[in-house]
Amino acid sequence: MDEGFERVAALSDLLDGDLMAVDVQGESILLANVDGQVYAISETCSHEGAPLSEGYLLDGTCLECPWHAGHFDLTDGSVLEAPPIVDLTAYAVQVDGDDIYVGPAL
Ligand code: FES
Repeated sequence: MDEGFERVAALSDLLDGDLMAVDVQGESILLANVDGQVYAISETCSHEGAPLSEGYLLDGTCLECPWHAGHFDLTDGSVLEAPPIVDLTAYAVQVDGDDIYVGPAL
């Protein structure tokens, strides 16, 4: 595995359509499996701090916050719909067999 990546979860615990929060070096990070592709962005909504792992996957890589329905793009953490105005951090992800690794911020 590349330097700077840390194993955070098993792919078998994150099925297609699942969301999961993990801690990586003190950061709370959301993992999402969309059609077999795993994405990682900040777990905490930039609006008022909702836990995004309790949110909802919409079309494609769009995630809806559970509190006020803000939308974020899982690929880069960008805001797609207000009320949030501040983009989230997205992180590099690598999958090796059943192991999910999260790396540096993109
Ligand atoms: S806390 Fe996420 S949209 Fe308000």
